[in-house]
Amino acid sequence: MKEQLQHVKKDFLHLVAKVTDRDALEQLKTEFLGRRGKLNAAMKDMASLAQEERKLVGAMVNEVKEAIETAYAEAIEMASKASLASKASGEWIDVTQPEMTSHPKGHLHPITQVREDLEDLFTSMGFIVADGPQMESDFFNFTALNIPPTHPARDMQDTFYVKGHEGVVMRTHTSPVQIRGMREYGVPLRMIVPGRCFRNEATDVRHEHTLHQIEGVVVDRGISFAHLKGVLEAVGKHLYGQETKIRLRPKFYPFVEPGVNGEVTCYLCKGDGCRLCKKSGWLEVFGAGMIHPNVLREGGVDPQTHSGFAFGFGLMRLVMLKYGIDDIRLFESGDLRFLNQF
Ligand code: DAH
Repeated sequence: MKEQLQHVKKDFLHLVAKVTDRDALEQLKTEFLGRRGKLNAAMKDMASLAQEERKLVGAMVNEVKEAIETAYAEAIEMASKASLASKASGEWIDVTQPEMTSHPKGHLHPITQVREDLEDLFTSMGFIVADGPQMESDFFNFTALNIPPTHPARDMQDTFYVKGHEGVVMRTHTSPVQIRGMREYGVPLRMIVPGRCFRNEATDVRHEHTLHQIEGVVVDRGISFAHLKGVLEAVGKHLYGQETKIRLRPKFYPFVEPGVNGEVTCYLCKGDGCRLCKKSGWLEVFGAGMIHPNVLREGGVDPQTHSGFAFGFGLMRLVMLKYGIDDIRLFESGDLRFLNQF
């Protein structure tokens, strides 16, 4: 019987070494330790043994059982490790994939924020939002806007000329899109043109070589100065509050007649006069006027039947006034210490 027991143990150890599958291991264990298993079979005649002998055999049974159980536990552990490893080897890891940890989210540039806000305002008043080239022909940028090659107004808007491309400039304002818009869409027309412009500036806190403007154009039958004032007032109130007032003072721009400077009551002192408005109570915001007949004609519009107004303003100045920013160069600096404040 002792021999039989030793056989049971040997057989199990021999077999268990060959099995790596969990289910098969369990089955093997049942085969040996189960109620009808090999160990019980080997113990079948135990009852007939003498007491002394039975004690010895009993101890041996325990020893065999323990050995089987230990071997089984070890085999199970190895099997689960192996199955994990084989699963992992079937998996594919892209080491070039960006890490999934969260990155700080950026946000829109303050100029973009104000531009989008104004686009919403103007589209709510029936304006379309148009675009035009930043590298523009001399013709659209100047000549078609009633600024012929010898006109002194060209001096006010010195820009960057493109080497090897006669007659091409970086646009100095969004006004050339007045002509393009009229030609493209005809009349009646209600259009704004936000966009980047360029000037040959010696940069300082108030001057930058790259600037952002919004141009506005309305052309239809019977458009008057009153319409212009109404629109500018709506914009002023939207930007600086309902109590904002507007005033228009004569100013020369070659592409309008008459031309005006649009001013709003200083939002800081409400018109009393302060440092921001240089004690005047007013802030200059818009250039505007009734579109010059020559400009209408360049746009393919008959000044006998139609009239229109146009306005233009610098977005940077609006943002500077709104947030009290004192250096225009910060906008294009890409400096996060500045940008993160908005
Ligand atoms: N283009 C002018 C500038 O850049 C601004 C301007 C003035 C636009 C009068 C207009 C206007 O449409 O009517 O200084």
